[in-house]
Amino acid sequence: MKILITGAFGQLGIALSQKLQEQHDICRTGRNIPSGETGITLDIQNQIIVKNVIDVVQPDLIINLAAMTSVDGCESNPNLAKEINIAGVQHLCDSFNGKIIQFSTDYVFDGENGPYFEEDAVCPISIYGETKLASERILLNHNPNHLVIRGNVIYDDSSTTKASFLNWVVNSLTNQKEINVVDDQINNPTWTKSLADVSSLCINNNLSGIVHWGDADYLNRFEFAKKIAEKYELDSKLISPITTKALNQPAPRPLKSGLKSDKLVEVLNVVQPSIDDCLNAILQKKN
Ligand SMILES: NC(=O)c1ccc[n+]([C@@H]2O[C@H](COP(=O)([O-])OP(=O)(O)OC[C@H]3O[C@@H](n4cnc5c(N)ncnc54)[C@H](OP(=O)(O)O)[C@@H]3O)[C@@H](O)[C@H]2O)c1
Repeated sequence: MKILITGAFGQLGIALSQKLQEQHDICRTGRNIPSGETGITLDIQNQIIVKNVIDVVQPDLIINLAAMTSVDGCESNPNLAKEINIAGVQHLCDSFNGKIIQFSTDYVFDGENGPYFEEDAVCPISIYGETKLASERILLNHNPNHLVIRGNVIYDDSSTTKASFLNWVVNSLTNQKEINVVDDQINNPTWTKSLADVSSLCINNNLSGIVHWGDADYLNRFEFAKKIAEKYELDSKLISPITTKALNQPAPRPLKSGLKSDKLVEVLNVVQPSIDDCLNAILQKKN
């Protein structure tokens, strides 16, 4: 199958491209192509270019990872967030008749009583969450056979992306920098490879609708940072807990969140990996 991936050089894009190229013909696109990489320049805000690239590539499937992923950036610049996260998805739908897979987030929920199942009521509390929910609706209204995969706190050891929590923790502690990490946001952090492996199975099984995927452990962000410090043998005393309120960020965050993955566990007969196993595998790959 020929698969066109947008946002292919971001955190998830790197892992997903690597996984899918084992079985498929992958066309990686990005707003900017990093030096040393090959791909097609594609900004999903530009409807004409979206159409041109799809006409040239003629994919069987499009996977949309392109998004404005800075939650505070979206809050500060809602128009740009809408142009990328909503209009961009509309451009893909308007230009392509085949199947599209869209990645979304647990930020479509308000974080009052997570972790969440696919059927739970959505209620975003940030512009990022609102725009991602709107993108889900555009996609599934365009064709219910499309697929939305929701993820949360996606991480990897990937120095090339701004979105990596793991690299922020490791780099800060390596440089003896003290960091404050919130202890009141609970999720189930998910390794990019775990999400990439499950996404590949979703493609092979031609799933549609909305599915959730998160790894096995639910914990707060402070505990996650401590786990990273422990595995990387860094000084965890440099990490202090802080509340979300005290951080005073532009965008509100869902506090009790995370994603229940029971549906995919059953349908695909897969097991959610633990954080320990994922961090061990990341370190093993690195060394
Ligand atoms: N990270 C998480 O914890 C998380 C959780 C749930 C869902 N998701 C979703 O998963 C997807 C992938 O996220 P990620 O973690 O891989 O984030 P990421 O590293 O920020 O990747 C997003 C990519 O989209 C690109 N992009 C931004 N605007 C674009 C545009 N107008 N046209 C084309 N490309 C554009 C970015 O390119 P630039 O480098 O040029 O900005 C970047 O390469 C996103 O849809 C995100 O909403 C992420």
